[in-house]
Amino acid sequence: MAAEAGGAAGQRRIMCVGLVCLDIISVVEAFPAEDSDTRCLSQRWQRGGNASNSCTVLALLGAPCAFMGSLAPGPAADFIAADFQRRGVDTAHVAWQPRGEVPCACCIVNASSGSRTIVLHDTNLPDATARDFERVDLSQYKWIHFESIPGARNAAEQSAMLERVERYNRAAAPGRRVRISVEVEKPREELLPLMRRGQVVFISKDLARHFGYKSAPEALQGMRGRIQPGATLICAWAEEGADAMGPDGELVHSDAFPPETLVDTLGAGDTFNAAVIFALAEGRSLQDALTFGCRIAGRKCGIQGFDGIV
Ligand code: FRU
Repeated sequence: MAAEAGGAAGQRRIMCVGLVCLDIISVVEAFPAEDSDTRCLSQRWQRGGNASNSCTVLALLGAPCAFMGSLAPGPAADFIAADFQRRGVDTAHVAWQPRGEVPCACCIVNASSGSRTIVLHDTNLPDATARDFERVDLSQYKWIHFESIPGARNAAEQSAMLERVERYNRAAAPGRRVRISVEVEKPREELLPLMRRGQVVFISKDLARHFGYKSAPEALQGMRGRIQPGATLICAWAEEGADAMGPDGELVHSDAFPPETLVDTLGAGDTFNAAVIFALAEGRSLQDALTFGCRIAGRKCGIQGFDGIV
């Protein structure tokens, strides 16, 4: 398979599995009132989706990476595919769907606060399946990150994908195993069992708050029972930085690195995840990885988009 460059002789890569969408972003000076008619400062199309954004950041950090998710042919997909290519993200495993529309989000980024308000239309595009995932040559990857996608069917498909990687790892020599990370961002019942499947598990502030936790350390303590023994649980909490619980239950914290001015927080969490994965995949310590994640995410919040995070 020519597209799977970087084989035995090359560097093993990082894959992110999850959502890609088109973000149509209006940057405003002040958040508009409902039913008003205003002008924005600037507008742009940007490739979005958590796993897709994380690929952008991995590529910018210099890690060879691949994206797996669904697209359907059309102008949005043309833009997205060209953008993946521009960033050097491998899309050989994109599951092209004969029907459905590419998800599209209207995003308002408030340049005075950095807040991002997202309205996503994501209804009818079938997601990548375990069957699609069977075509992935796992020997090419050192790390596969799964963004959990809501829906009972998707959870089942992702569970089957994880099962395949787990099976592969049981047979592989220690140095050839694939590290698995899972992100659970949305407070959806069907996604929670996926927490038990990652060696590194990212939970969102949203999820933590849904369970009634008021801080990242509280969430880690409260949710540690949901991950597998020896796994690492990570929770970022915006301006409070991020906390993690390592394989032996050790707690690690990094403060946030806020930019002078917050201008655009769209994809900040995805940036954090990617930077942490990048550092851990390089063999850096959990503390280092967490600090690096906060630093890169902080930089991202000080600029529009992703160019300039490194
Ligand atoms: C940011 C993001 C956007 C996308 C939305 C999907 O984290 O991935 O790029 O519109 O979230 O939920």
